[in-house]
Amino acid sequence: MKIGVPKETRSGETRVAATPDSIKRLGSKIAGVKFLIETGAGTAAHFPDESYKAVGAEIVDRKTALGAELVLKLHRPDEEEVGLMSKGALLLSTIEPFKNDGLMEKLAARGVDAIGLELIPRISRAQSMDVLSSQANIAGYRAVIEAAAHFGRFLPTMMTAAGSAKAAKVIVLGAGVAGLQAIATARRMGANVEAFDVRPEVKEQIESLGAKFIEIDIGESGSGAGGYAKELSPEAKAKQQKGLTERLKKADIVITTAQIPGRPAPLLVTEEAVMGMAPGSVIMDMAASTGGNCALTEAEKIVVKNGVTLIGTTNLLSLVPADASNFYARNLVNLMYLIVKPGEPPALNLDLQDEIVAASLVTHGGAVRFQRR
Ligand SMILES: NC(=O)c1ccc[n+]([C@@H]2O[C@H](COP(=O)([O-])OP(=O)(O)OC[C@H]3O[C@@H](n4cnc5c(N)ncnc54)[C@H](O)[C@@H]3O)[C@@H](O)[C@H]2O)c1
Repeated sequence: MKIGVPKETRSGETRVAATPDSIKRLGSKIAGVKFLIETGAGTAAHFPDESYKAVGAEIVDRKTALGAELVLKLHRPDEEEVGLMSKGALLLSTIEPFKNDGLMEKLAARGVDAIGLELIPRISRAQSMDVLSSQANIAGYRAVIEAAAHFGRFLPTMMTAAGSAKAAKVIVLGAGVAGLQAIATARRMGANVEAFDVRPEVKEQIESLGAKFIEIDIGESGSGAGGYAKELSPEAKAKQQKGLTERLKKADIVITTAQIPGRPAPLLVTEEAVMGMAPGSVIMDMAASTGGNCALTEAEKIVVKNGVTLIGTTNLLSLVPADASNFYARNLVNLMYLIVKPGEPPALNLDLQDEIVAASLVTHGGAVRFQRR
């Protein structure tokens, strides 16, 4: 069985969907798979072609990689890539199924089955396959590093012969995967950390990381289905913004990670809050690509407003490409254990009754299965 790994073409992307480590792992459990890696696919993630050859992979051209029976990608394919895929092939990739732009119809017309990795359910059995979690964890870490690099002061308390400095105050909004890692990272760097989330059940997790939970009575719970948040009523949103604004004005660094799947990012940091923050403070808005949690963020840019640096970088993962690729690739290996049947030769085996496959298979047998809500 041949598994193709094309080079990612999205601007700024440095990650790759298979690494020498993931290839070795899959090979140790399922014999008879051959990886076809496009020339230079891993170079930007610090995995040169030779490192793939050393674990038995073949370095091929783009057409050969995309023409394989199983294709591994990070970003949804473009038209050229769909055109190079084979009828009956299976694609494992993020698909962005909520974009209503005909991609799934094109994949189905080409006869390509596709698993949309962002649709893998957040259930215990699928945790090891969950690319959103593995990547958000890394992004949460890097968000703190970025913010710290733009902050003109220390994060920890410093006592030196030349004088002492107080620990920075960091506020993290949204304590899901990225938020909890941001809290842990800021704590490790010695900052005083406070955090808020609309799901009251995360209070304990925040406190277990040594941060303080910000209590705001918004009059309702934001807990929705499947461990995700639901959209708040307009009254609750207003109470939240009001409750946060005065606290945010006193923060040195604010990291925002609030999201509701498939919806624009909730607005948590108002213009008034930004204007009230001290010069030199920093806001890292991790939700910039879905509209931003801060009123003044500009996606893909770093801007300074009233002395406050607003970071709208959306490619944090490309700044940690080796580990981000390894984690992503490991998620795919765990998924492949589920959908590849060992044998001579090994073969694709999609069990449509399996909860994970059923939830994430967006095209199958020439038809679109994904149902828009
Ligand atoms: N900038 C980047 O490079 C990058 C990379 C990866 C992820 N992200 C982004 O990071 C964000 C977080 O991802 P995640 O995987 O941690 O998501 P997640 O779903 O695990 O966590 C989001 C959290 O936000 C909370 N939330 C929702 N509405 C809220 C509100 N009104 N107030 C406070 N909290 C609220 C939810 O309860 C949840 O805990 C997403 O926007 C994602 O797109 C950015």
